[in-house]
Amino acid sequence: MKPALVLDARQEGHACEVRVGGGVPARLAELAAGHDRVALVTCARVRRTPFARRAERALAGSGKLALAHVLPDGERGKTLAELERAATRLLRAGATRRTLVVALGGGAVTDAAGFLAATFMRGVPWVAVPTTLLAMVDAALGGKTAVNLPLAKNAVGAFHPPRAVLADPVALATLPARELASGMGEVVKYAALDPALLPEVRAAARAGRAGQALVAACARYKLQVVARDPREQAERKLLNLGHTFGHGVEAAGGFSRYTHGEAVAVGLAFAFRLARAMGRVDAAAVAEVGDLLDRAGLPRRVPPTVARRAARLMSYDKKRTAAGLRWVLPRARGNAWVVEWDVAAPDGAVAAAVAEIGEAP
Ligand code: GLY
Repeated sequence: MKPALVLDARQEGHACEVRVGGGVPARLAELAAGHDRVALVTCARVRRTPFARRAERALAGSGKLALAHVLPDGERGKTLAELERAATRLLRAGATRRTLVVALGGGAVTDAAGFLAATFMRGVPWVAVPTTLLAMVDAALGGKTAVNLPLAKNAVGAFHPPRAVLADPVALATLPARELASGMGEVVKYAALDPALLPEVRAAARAGRAGQALVAACARYKLQVVARDPREQAERKLLNLGHTFGHGVEAAGGFSRYTHGEAVAVGLAFAFRLARAMGRVDAAAVAEVGDLLDRAGLPRRVPPTVARRAARLMSYDKKRTAAGLRWVLPRARGNAWVVEWDVAAPDGAVAAAVAEIGEAP
């Protein structure tokens, strides 16, 4: 077994240990030892996996496990009603301010359990054990925690960085293929942000798997951005590349037709097409990102009706300002491109990109 790669992250003065690789059960037991109790929060699909069983056994063996709380799978676990249910169970299990919350699961679990940790007794420490590619390279990193409201995703949340993120790509072995591809949507985003990652991401997309080195490279990129701009006042907005139109696609599909990563994939293709319509990049850049998405088995177009609906719905984006939508878009530099945030786009260019994304391939 290769040793875990350990990245030391800092966010607003708080240290966060990010480990990518094996040894998760042993590290969980060590972390548990420093707390009075541990509350494990997971979901039914994840709890059945061999990886999760080993993690839970290690926590039980530490003698600190007071509670294993199982959320409904996926976004159904990210509601205020589920938050109340979980907090009540923590109280009944004797949890205190010195209790450690361990979030074991995909992005929905880490978002919801992270928000539980942010709010229970005004904040308790937590550790994220992400089990999906999407959570390993994005959701579990950077301290954004939230639950949904019926009207909007992640509408109620807090910045509450975990003490540690323990990501073992072995957990991905039992991940459904569509979920793995969905994670690749965020991985392709990192290659679009940092073209130096293109060869590694191209190889992973071709092989249909992401290993330790790639997960660590994506995590390192995000952690560096978050360390410089923890509250998304400036540079962290880069991490929303592909997400403005992508959130529109997710909403246009009723949050069920497209996974988050699939919607981000379409959003990435859209961002490059919009940049080309504005003369910021050439057709080769659009083709390069399109090729990566194809290799990863991700969509880069949607039916015209979905594209038009997504364009209408993206106007509800959280990142909208009084001056209108501000985009994260590439601009050609040398043989590649750089990505910029807070870019205004003319309506005509947006309409042209919407029409292109809604065309038959
Ligand atoms: N998912 C984007 C961010 O964490 O900022």
